[in-house]
Amino acid sequence: MSLIDEVNKRRTFAIISHPDAGKTTLTEKLLLYGGAIHLAGSVKARKTAKHAVSDWMEIEKQRGISVTSSVLQFDYEGHHINILDTPGHQDFSEDTYRTLMAADSAVMLIDVAKGVEEQTKKLFRVCRERQIPIFTFVNKIDRFGRNPFDLMDEIENILGIRAYPMNWPLGINGNYEGIYDRTTSSIELFAKDMNHGQQKLASAKGSADDPAFKALLSDDVHRSLVDDIELLDAAGDEFDLKKVKNGTLTPMFFGSAMTNFGVKLFLEKFLELAPKPQPRKTKEGSVEPTSEQFTSFIFKIQANMNPQHHDRIVFMRICSGKFEKGMTVTHRQSGKPVRLMQPQQFLATERTMIDEAWPGDIIGVFDSSSLGVGDTLYDGKRQVTFADFPTFPAELFARIRAKDSLKRKQFLKGMTQLAQEGAVQIYENPGSMESYIVGAVGQLQFEVLEYRLLHEYGVTLEMNRLPYSVARWIYSETKDYKELKNIDSAMVVKDHKQRTVLLITNEWQANWIVERNPDFIFCQRPDELPLEDN
Ligand code: G4P
Repeated sequence: MSLIDEVNKRRTFAIISHPDAGKTTLTEKLLLYGGAIHLAGSVKARKTAKHAVSDWMEIEKQRGISVTSSVLQFDYEGHHINILDTPGHQDFSEDTYRTLMAADSAVMLIDVAKGVEEQTKKLFRVCRERQIPIFTFVNKIDRFGRNPFDLMDEIENILGIRAYPMNWPLGINGNYEGIYDRTTSSIELFAKDMNHGQQKLASAKGSADDPAFKALLSDDVHRSLVDDIELLDAAGDEFDLKKVKNGTLTPMFFGSAMTNFGVKLFLEKFLELAPKPQPRKTKEGSVEPTSEQFTSFIFKIQANMNPQHHDRIVFMRICSGKFEKGMTVTHRQSGKPVRLMQPQQFLATERTMIDEAWPGDIIGVFDSSSLGVGDTLYDGKRQVTFADFPTFPAELFARIRAKDSLKRKQFLKGMTQLAQEGAVQIYENPGSMESYIVGAVGQLQFEVLEYRLLHEYGVTLEMNRLPYSVARWIYSETKDYKELKNIDSAMVVKDHKQRTVLLITNEWQANWIVERNPDFIFCQRPDELPLEDN
C-alpha cells in the first residue's frame, strides 16, 4: 500500500470527557467493533483492577490507575484507528493536555443527565485552540436525561461552538426509547429485552411524520419527534463540513455506550467525517503527511516502565513519511543522530513490537535520556522543527526542596530531567537557591514527582503546598516588576527562561491586581507575551 493510501485510512483522535461520563465504556465498545478485543470488560478491567502488564510504574499499580495517557488502536472497515486516551480524576495531568496535541480530532463525551462538566471544558479549550474538529457523543440515553435542546444550548453557550444533531433521542420528559437518525431518516428503538440494545428492534425509514413511525411510537412520542425535527430543520444550523473541519460546528450524536446503542452509527459517521492526518505546522513551514520525509514529535515520556533498567519510553506522533524499525533519525534539539529502538504499538491491553508505522500513528520507542517532550525527530537532510507545545495553566503550586541538604546535587539533576520530561512546571524561587516552586495541573503530578525523586534519584522531598491557583506572566516596557502594586498576597517567581511570573490565589484576585497595575501586561501563558519567539 502506498504512503497516500496509508495516510487516507488513518484516523487519530482523543476522547475528552469528565470522569464517569462513560469514556472507558465507549472505548471498549469501539474496540469490540474493531475486533481488537473480544470480551466486554477488558478495558474496564485494566482501568480498575491490577494491571496485566507487570512493569508499569509502581505508583500505577498501587493506585490501579494509568498515570499517563494510553494509546489504543484497531482496524475497522478499511480504516486504521488510533485512540488517544486522556486520563481523568486525580490522574489528570499535563500529559492529558499534551495528548491532545497528537490528535487530529476529538470526541467530546457528555453524560445526558449532567451536560458539559468541568474537565470537559478544560480539555475542550485546548482542542478549540488547535481548531481541530470536535464530535459530540451524548451518552447514557438509556436512562433519564436532560432535554436535548437544553444540551445543545449548553454546548453553544458554555463552549461557544454550534451543534448539529446527527440523530435525535425519541421520547418525552427525559425518558428515551430510541433514536431518529437525521442522515437516513430512520428510527431505531432500544431493545426492551436484556440484550443491551445490541439487537435492533423494528425500524423504519421515512421523514419524521411518516405514518410508519406512528405505528411504532406512542402518539406523544411521535408528536414530540415531529415537532422537534421541524424545529431543528427550521431553526437549527445547516450541516456544513467546512465548519466541522475548522472546529466551529460539532456533529452531535445521542446514544448509550453501555447498552451499545447508537455506537455503530456514531463510529461509521465519525470515520466518514473525521479528518485523516493533517498537515502540521513547523518553524520551517508546513509538513504534508504524504511527504516522503519521516517527521515526528514527542508528546509524552513515560519513565521507568521497567524499574530494573533506568529506561524511558518515548511516545511520538508520526507526522509524515514512513517509520521503519531501527531507523536512525536526527534529534532536532540536540542535532544528534538517534536510533529508534524497540518500536512498539499498543493494542488494547497489550504492547506489540512493530516493523513499520505511518503518519497519524503513535509509537513508543526506548530512549536512555536524550529526548524531551515537544522535541522533533526527522529523517533526511531538510531540517524540521515542530512548534513548541503551549504551556498549560497550572492550578496547583508547591515549594519543594531536598530534605537532606547533602542530596542537593541529585535533587538538581532529578529536577532538570523531570522538567525536560514535562513532569511538572518548574519555577525558580528568587529568595532561595535550595528550593524550587513547582506547578501542576493535577495532584497526581506532585505524587509522581515525589515518588520518582525518591526511587530514581534517592532524594526525599520536603513539599509544602502553596495557596495559589493561577499564574500570570508579566511584561512591561518601562517598569520593573518591583514596581507592581497590591501584590502582597501573591508570589513573584521566574520561569525556566527567566521570565517573571506572578502566582496568585484565584482569578478574582488576579483581576484585581491587573486593574491596579495598568502599566503592566498580564498574560495567562508565556507565548502570549509581546516579543515572545514562539
Ligand atoms: P469514565 O471512563 O468516563 O470514567 O466512565 P466509565 O466508562 O467507567 O463509566 C462510568 C459509569 O457509567 C459506569 O458505571 C458505567 O457502567 C456507566 N455507563 C457508561 N455508559 C453508560 C450508558 O450508556 N448508560 C448507563 N446507564 N450507564 C453507563 P459504574 O457503576 O461506575 O461501573 P460498572 O459497575 O457499571 O462497571
